Amino acid sequence: DKGIYPYYMLKEVDEQPVVIRRLVARYLTDDGQIKLGQAILDEMEAADHIYIVAAGTSYHAGLVGARMFEQWSNKPTSVYLASEFAYEQSILSQKPFFIFLSQSGETADSREVLQNVNEQGFHSLTLTNVEKSTLWREATYALPLMAGPEIAVASTKAYVAQVTLQAILAYALADANQMTFNLHEQLSEIAVAIQSIVDDKAVFEKVANQMLVPETTHSAFYIGRGADAAVALEAALKLKEISYVQAEGFAAGELKHGTLALIEEGTPVIALITQPKTAGLVRGNLSETTARGARPFTIVTKALAQTGDDYILPDVNPLLTPLVSVVPTQLLAYYTSLGRHLDVDRPRNLAKSVTVQ
Ligand code: M6R
Repeated sequence: DKGIYPYYMLKEVDEQPVVIRRLVARYLTDDGQIKLGQAILDEMEAADHIYIVAAGTSYHAGLVGARMFEQWSNKPTSVYLASEFAYEQSILSQKPFFIFLSQSGETADSREVLQNVNEQGFHSLTLTNVEKSTLWREATYALPLMAGPEIAVASTKAYVAQVTLQAILAYALADANQMTFNLHEQLSEIAVAIQSIVDDKAVFEKVANQMLVPETTHSAFYIGRGADAAVALEAALKLKEISYVQAEGFAAGELKHGTLALIEEGTPVIALITQPKTAGLVRGNLSETTARGARPFTIVTKALAQTGDDYILPDVNPLLTPLVSVVPTQLLAYYTSLGRHLDVDRPRNLAKSVTVQ
């Protein structure tokens, strides 16, 4: 039931702090210890390579998770689009372990990969929002995303749940002595941070109406580096999916290798700047677009903010920033769809659960 909400998407965006708290309560103790079946951890520990397989928004969550498995757990990790991996499997490592990310647990491309993985005798873990779904039943292990039913076609809270649960797994696999932060505390702070962003809805409604709703806006770009590049892909998908604005998400350094040609007077370019190592470079890339007339909007963490920045995010662990930076992009997509008088929850040509290959 949508209750007071005009659309499920907005309700689901608002539920994100609760989803994180629910995952924290289920999987972490107060002092940051992990509550997970030992068998899953043992298998992941023994693996020499993690293969994450997913589609759409879930794939974008995987791009964020892979960074945590590599940087926190020191585990080589690759992320694959299910629709590609199903028909062109890479050379696998000696001891692979597969993670399937899927809100619905029914995505046909991911099911095809899981079937191949099972035939080859490899073990897997599905992270899904739907218990007893096909990917849940057919994987070696499965853990619930606990996001509650996601009704809007545009996935929001499932993304946040997938990133959170991958963070918990990566943290569990990490060498405790190397982890300088308590994940329980970090995630609790992030829930508070997301709440403050969703309480700022008017800001995003205004920006969407100014930059993205006008019929003269035909295209938009999201740029960032590292984890921000992964969020840029998700932000662009969300905008395309529900507002029909042609949007692209880019690793900011790639703009100059071709895409810069598309920048015209007034083209919206939204920069995500949350990664200390590359913040200056992204600002440089953004200036290259504004020099060609682009209309910039910056979403920046507090520690990296400069005078003139547009939206300031609270500081969190750099690899966890996608959990906060994605929220403004969800709201920008929502208000663009609304401003264009579209059916936010049911965009044309799309289905919630994609059961065809
Ligand atoms: O149910 P799944 O997570 O496997 O679905 C994958 C994609 O179809 C899904 O994330 C899709 O990209 C969303 N509609 C994006 O908002």
